[in-house]
Amino acid sequence: MKHLLKLLDLTGEEIIEILNLADQLKYETKHGIEHFHLKGKCLGMIFEKSSTRTRVSFEVGINQLGGYAVVLSSEGSQIGRGEPVQDTARVLSRYVDGIMIRTFGQDEVEALAEYGSVPVINGLTDFCHPCQVLADLMTIREYKGSLEGLKLCFIGDGNNMMNSLIVGGLKVGMTVSVACPEGYRPPREILEFAAGYGGKFTLTDSPLEAAKDADVVITDVWTSMGQEDERKKREAAFAGYCIDERLMSSARPDAMVQHCLPAHRGEEISAEIFEAHAEEIFEEAENRLHAQKAVLVKTMGC
Ligand code: CP
Ligand code: NVA
Repeated sequence: MKHLLKLLDLTGEEIIEILNLADQLKYETKHGIEHFHLKGKCLGMIFEKSSTRTRVSFEVGINQLGGYAVVLSSEGSQIGRGEPVQDTARVLSRYVDGIMIRTFGQDEVEALAEYGSVPVINGLTDFCHPCQVLADLMTIREYKGSLEGLKLCFIGDGNNMMNSLIVGGLKVGMTVSVACPEGYRPPREILEFAAGYGGKFTLTDSPLEAAKDADVVITDVWTSMGQEDERKKREAAFAGYCIDERLMSSARPDAMVQHCLPAHRGEEISAEIFEAHAEEIFEEAENRLHAQKAVLVKTMGC
């Protein structure tokens, strides 16, 4: 695998291979078995948006693999002063062995891969969040035993998380049902992709309908990074889209809940449902580390 730019670029088999390696790396980490697959290799990390999980899990992950990380933020580098991504890509490729980037436009990540000569990993754009969804799929498989045939439901904004869950879920054989208000639906590219899966994908504006008999219910913030000016408008648009007890009663009794975090209790998820499913949610956060280590090995390993 050359890069991880978006899940649309991977086959279902490639996603499963990453999850299998992630499971193995998790097992080895838990049992104190060292795995220096990337000994001496350097991961450059570019952050043009805030991060807690992505920042720490990638740095810890590359260290556990025998490598190390160099972190650049837009404020402290020439990126924030407008140096073109094409030049950043060609310069960094001469110093580091791989680049992880969190930014706004997906086009920036694609350009980094096009102009650079080292693997590029997408650590979140406005369009998608592939590393997070690999961790989600890993966690769901860990709890449920398999993915094929399960019903995944996402309630909320047609954002980067919804996009990647639709693509990842369908590619690994799940049924995907999403609920979002008019005006907050996923982009056409994602809906066209999902249409290719026929009845395995449904889009509705009814959270209860989307959650019906779901095996896993997922949500994310209503206001993503970069949308802070729209917060009030969004809070009004998403009224009724909270994952609470009423909504969960529509899902299967053994349904899991996933949230990429950070969570806003009382908005997209109630405090009660969050706490009732905290174990699964924090396992999901832990699995960022293992899933991303698998991505690092698949892209930067020789
Ligand atoms: N879920 C996630 O990507 O978290 P951070 O924004 O903290 O990296
Ligand atoms: N949709 C959120 C995800 C944060 C991890 C955002 O882009 O801010």
